[in-house]
Amino acid sequence: MLAPVTKAVIPAAGLGTRFLPATKALPKEMLPVVDKPVIQYVVEEAVRAGLADVLFVTGRNKNALENHFDRATELESILLRKGDDERLSRVAESTDLANVHYVRQGDPLGLGHAVLRARAHVGDSSFAVLLGDDIIDARDTLLERMLEVHRQRATSVVALMEVDPGQTHLYGIATVERTDDDDVVRVTGLVEKPDPGTAPSNLAVVGRYVLRPEVFPVLERTEPGRGGEIQLTDALLTLAGDASAGGVHGVVFRGRRYDTGDRLDYIKANVMLACDRPDLGPDLRAWLKEFAQRLDD
Ligand code: G1P
Repeated sequence: MLAPVTKAVIPAAGLGTRFLPATKALPKEMLPVVDKPVIQYVVEEAVRAGLADVLFVTGRNKNALENHFDRATELESILLRKGDDERLSRVAESTDLANVHYVRQGDPLGLGHAVLRARAHVGDSSFAVLLGDDIIDARDTLLERMLEVHRQRATSVVALMEVDPGQTHLYGIATVERTDDDDVVRVTGLVEKPDPGTAPSNLAVVGRYVLRPEVFPVLERTEPGRGGEIQLTDALLTLAGDASAGGVHGVVFRGRRYDTGDRLDYIKANVMLACDRPDLGPDLRAWLKEFAQRLDD
């Protein structure tokens, strides 16, 4: 029996160069989607799945992220004095959300290296990894399902999604075998960002993982791969071939995912999530329809 998973690891040491100049002084994780930083959606997802112990693997210039999950005493006392309970609760939301911890990555040697930095905090238990570029719709339950598959099959689990064949070079791509569960596959191969036209499938690893602790010694031995970085994908390929460590399975996700790591997708994520909001949605939808007509003219 595996112990229940309680910890989430969120790598947040990237430089966010795709969003310059916005990310010159602001961590990319703090970019707002509607009115909440991207990273808060991700922490909320971990907490919904029962993982309230959150470790951020950060780098330099991430103070704004740390402040976001801390008390904002001055702001709170001003709002308290004004009796503005509604805004006060919005300030407190992120403070009370999770039990957060930080470790620095130091050298930016890749995602695998970032995950390895979590070893001392995680110890000898399984844990989840959530990448901040992806938001999974709160109405869908991807991480919960991955935790269930991990429990049932004592395996490491990655989230997979079918992507357009023209997009496979942006992801880790899996080769898989079917199982008796419709949404679960056994991973037999993995390749990080295959060159265009060489992908073995169009099943892409999206940014959610539930990993057995056996991944740590494997990561330690993993040589730099694609881009000269220590790739989590390469370590998972080794684990996939190791039945004694439980192998690797994939949960094929068919729900709503918003990619915020790319500028165009980031804009789309803002529009889609704002359309679903009761306070903004009705007005935005009406305006979008009118605007779309104007585009046709
Ligand atoms: C990382 C992983 C890749 C995965 C992707 C999901 O790449 O290395 O395997 O498919 O996240 O978003 P990144 O997008 O950080 O370059």
